[in-house]
Amino acid sequence: MANLARHIDFKELGDARGNLVVMEGDDSIPFHIKRIYYIYNTEQGVARGFHAHHHLKQVIVAVRGRCEMHLDNGKEKEIVVLDDPCKAIVIDTMIWRELHHFSEDCIILCLASEHYDESDYIRDYDTFMKEVSGK
Ligand code: TYD
Repeated sequence: MANLARHIDFKELGDARGNLVVMEGDDSIPFHIKRIYYIYNTEQGVARGFHAHHHLKQVIVAVRGRCEMHLDNGKEKEIVVLDDPCKAIVIDTMIWRELHHFSEDCIILCLASEHYDESDYIRDYDTFMKEVSGK
């Protein structure tokens, strides 16, 4: 089985009042966090992503709801279901990612190792395949 995503299990620090999950840069998050964004209210049937990054690493967690992350390193593919606010995946450089099948209530939290830089994106799959295979 492909193992393209590293998994992180966060400790749930909740009590009788409710749940609490902590993510710390350079600690449970394996890089210095430079940017945080979140995706929500995704229209039903919409898929997102469809890119890879040269340098950026990301940690991704569904803090509410469910979606599927489709990962591809050019040789192997893997589908990871994100549906647990205590579990995240780390996506390394040069991994093609697509997000599919968002539940209506889905909120995806993304922690990024770099500031936004469009030149770090590979948005064309053929270009990704050429780069990843060294052609
Ligand atoms: P896009 O990369 O298409 O989102 P996704 O990969 O989830 O499908 O981003 C949508 C728009 O938002 C696009 O115009 C780029 C912009 N954007 C920023 O300006 N800063 C950011 O940190 C991100 C993630 C996107």
